[in-house]
Amino acid sequence: MMKPFEKPIYVTRPFLPPLEEFCKGLEEIWESRWLTNDGPILRRFTHELCNILETENTCLFNNGTLALQIALQGMGISGEVITTPYTFVATTHSLFWNKIRPVFVDIEPEYYTIDPEKVEAAITPWTTAILAVHVYGHPCKLNTLADIARRHNLRLIYDAAHAFGVKVGGRPIAHFGDLSMFSFHSTKLFHSIEGGMLVFRETGLKGLFDYLKNFGFKNEVEVVMPGTNAKMNEMQALMGLHVLKYLDGTIQKRAKITAVYRSRLKEVPGIHLAPPLSPDIRYNYAYLPIEVDEQEFGMSRDTLYEKLKEWNVYARRYFYPLICDFACYRSISVNGSLSVARRVADRILTLPIYDTLELSDVETICDIISSLQERRELRPDATVRAGEREIIQAIAV
Ligand SMILES: Cc1ncc(COP(=O)(O)O)c(C=O)c1O
Repeated sequence: MMKPFEKPIYVTRPFLPPLEEFCKGLEEIWESRWLTNDGPILRRFTHELCNILETENTCLFNNGTLALQIALQGMGISGEVITTPYTFVATTHSLFWNKIRPVFVDIEPEYYTIDPEKVEAAITPWTTAILAVHVYGHPCKLNTLADIARRHNLRLIYDAAHAFGVKVGGRPIAHFGDLSMFSFHSTKLFHSIEGGMLVFRETGLKGLFDYLKNFGFKNEVEVVMPGTNAKMNEMQALMGLHVLKYLDGTIQKRAKITAVYRSRLKEVPGIHLAPPLSPDIRYNYAYLPIEVDEQEFGMSRDTLYEKLKEWNVYARRYFYPLICDFACYRSISVNGSLSVARRVADRILTLPIYDTLELSDVETICDIISSLQERRELRPDATVRAGEREIIQAIAV
């Protein structure tokens, strides 16, 4: 007899390094009394990240949203930007804060990233850039988007908030496009409590981003532009440095969890997972999205989401609703139909995944989902395969 989990299982739990290691770092901060403004720990953290990402062109921020806002401003993006409605609101907000008009186009059905064909069809004389999202850490169609951007002279910007640690063809995903933004928020696979990073192709942007994140200060007496305050502090950098040490292990644990979900859920009618990624992609296992087909599963995504709560399992509907359906964006232009994005947003559920989630708990979550499917009530409008109605009726008797 299955029982609900004693403690809630949330969609994620942040990774924390061993407390004594972190405390050692705190001692250093106490000694130096350097808490923010380009401190020694931030510099060390930046250095490590540059090594991992094989580039010097990085800039750290106090969060990913401000990093993206500053990126768009520093690159002088204006007019219209073609983007996806299937993302977290911050992607679109950063356009809005720069007075840029977002143009939403549909996504592709397998990995939920922006559909390059729809991008090309939406280009107008006012388009200046493409803002694509490696949603769930799934790489966008990198080569096709690069080709479109080149042919139409557009900047190609990636919201890579979910994609830290992903490699394509052995190269860090940050090497693709003109610029990528990573979020180091606590809910992310890799985090610095809060934090963000830009990685960019043009070396000249570095100085500009440094000014923009620090009030525009060039030195004590010169302010060269109206910047804002988006600096990463020493506590954030310290957490980032310590979490970074454990990143590979975290990814491996998440890979095992994903393998259990995949093997168990593929047997459940009406539960669909994205196909395995191509072998040249090193994935980071950041999320575990499933699609619920109401007809096949016998229950809507929303009902499953609510039923899971009864078992103390808190999945999330990432990403629902679509950005263009939020009140503040309803008047924004949509290019073509968003039929794929709408279908996915109505069916998507992200399941719990984090490094300390026990494999036995993953098995239990899968047992719950499959038992909810098996015990479905036969509804008159349900599509039933030949002979299935009789079988279900026989079981019910
Ligand atoms: C796709 C996406 N873009 C942007 C952000 C914003 O990042 P941050 O929370 O670091 O500001 C997030 C998440 O938080 C996100 O998921």
